[in-house]
Amino acid sequence: MSVIVITGAAGLVGSMLRPRLARPGRTLRVLDVAPLTAGPGEEAIRASVTDMDAMTAACQGADAVIHLAGIPGEASWPRILDLNINGSYVTFEAARRAGTPRVIFASSNHAVGFTARSAFPVPDYAFPAPDTYYGVSKATVEALAAMYHHRYGLDAICVRILSCFPRPKNVRMLSTWLSPDDAGRLFEACLTAGQPGFRVVFGVSANTRGGWVSLAEARALGYEPRPSPPRSSRSKASRTRRTRSCATWAASSPSPMPRSPRPSAGRPGRIPVPAASAGVPRRGGSGRGRSRCR
Ligand SMILES: NC(=O)c1ccc[n+]([C@@H]2O[C@H](COP(=O)([O-])OP(=O)(O)OC[C@H]3O[C@@H](n4cnc5c(N)ncnc54)[C@H](O)[C@@H]3O)[C@@H](O)[C@H]2O)c1
Repeated sequence: MSVIVITGAAGLVGSMLRPRLARPGRTLRVLDVAPLTAGPGEEAIRASVTDMDAMTAACQGADAVIHLAGIPGEASWPRILDLNINGSYVTFEAARRAGTPRVIFASSNHAVGFTARSAFPVPDYAFPAPDTYYGVSKATVEALAAMYHHRYGLDAICVRILSCFPRPKNVRMLSTWLSPDDAGRLFEACLTAGQPGFRVVFGVSANTRGGWVSLAEARALGYEPRPSPPRSSRSKASRTRRTRSCATWAASSPSPMPRSPRPSAGRPGRIPVPAASAGVPRRGGSGRGRSRCR
């Protein structure tokens, strides 16, 4: 894969993926409405994913699109419809028009947020059970991805990401965290898997408290989660603080699963989501880069 378009590349996931997907001889065409500075091996495009002409131009000569752009949490229906659903339609359609053969879509566990707890680990391809308008948008775009594969032959991979942050931010993320390095490995597997067709996979690390979702289909693409390396650059104070408050957050075993899902205070029968991320739009600059154990 020599030219890869990344939409929403200025955002949290995009910023973590870019250095991890950089390769000699590979160009990352990074696209966002927010200002972007092109790094080595990158071309920056300031455009909206709702602009068909700009997106079709951005996809010219590309081998794949990683589609991250959109609202990353709950919002009003008109905004979800415009950015998450229509913006994704434009992205798939632009890829088709430009002859880009593969689209990798950042879906979410919220597409299946009301899956019954008795069904844990949630199987790959679990039928949509969205818990928000945001989740509806992810399920809708998964359906679009299926159509673009079956009707037009695009390879279309939907990654139902659980929680992709530099570090887990709360107790729930001890089970749902996708580490930045594992995110890099997973998206690289999505880029390089031979003729994947249409896939729906979960994006999560092999957390010791995990086991909420299947990793089988992600592994079938070539994804192999690994323990996170020790973060030796941390100060002694921050190491001590973290050890006390959040000792088990890192994935400590390369083999995932299965631990029984832990009972939660959340609504029975759904993947528990703290109020901070369920149904409440995240605001820009909300400190996601300053992750803390909570
Ligand atoms: N971070 C997670 O834990 C997580 C979990 C599940 C799914 N996801 C999905 O991954 C994707 C990226 O999430 P994130 O956490 O990086 O969010 P983010 O808000 O940090 O990044 C989204 C980016 O999209 C850009 N954007 C918004 N509207 C745009 C438009 N019209 N055209 C072009 N760019 C536009 C924003 O400027 C931003 O840079 C989202 O689709 C989100 O739903 C993220």
